[in-house]
Amino acid sequence: MKRLAIFASGTGSNAKQLIDYFSGNKDISVALLVSNRKEARALEIARNSNVPAVNFTKEEFYNSSTVIEKLVSEKIDFIVLAGFLIKIPDNILKAYENKIINIHPALLPDFGGKGMYGLNVHKAVIESGKKESGITIHLVNEHYDEGRILYQAKCPVLENDTAEILATRVQELEHRYFPEVVEHFISGKL
Ligand code: GAR
Repeated sequence: MKRLAIFASGTGSNAKQLIDYFSGNKDISVALLVSNRKEARALEIARNSNVPAVNFTKEEFYNSSTVIEKLVSEKIDFIVLAGFLIKIPDNILKAYENKIINIHPALLPDFGGKGMYGLNVHKAVIESGKKESGITIHLVNEHYDEGRILYQAKCPVLENDTAEILATRVQELEHRYFPEVVEHFISGKL
């Protein structure tokens, strides 16, 4: 059995999809949800599904071994970032090399990097005049949004799109593909 930790900072709609998808799976389980914001709805979503959920302060992430100790004590094999908006500390990157998967709401390598999350991304896409956007699921390394791409899916950017409308279209792709891509990667198919 491979044990996943989901890291999430916000609403947790992708966390919910992942938890539901893997519930009852005999090879992969969501064993922990980690957040950096104690008010994140993702924590509540996890607890409602009986997934242990913990919040850590920035201090604990960057200046202590508290988080890595928790991951080790929970025997976590893979980490899935589902809207996790702070940089992964080096000690976690080292311990989980090629075992951290992120989802980004645009077609990398465009519209990635520091500060590119949530609506900022969709605003930038609309301002660029691009006719397509989508999702990128990729491995995480020490550079923001630059790890190996595992999967991309596209959707159109329409004439009258606002960032919010485009966000909804992109999230439909996220919910449809993210859990399956995580499963394929963990089972060695990607
Ligand atoms: C998702 O759209 C995800 O792609 C994005 O945050 C959102 C979280 O939504 N991540 C990034 O922008 C990372 N750079 P959710 O909390 O509803 O799952």
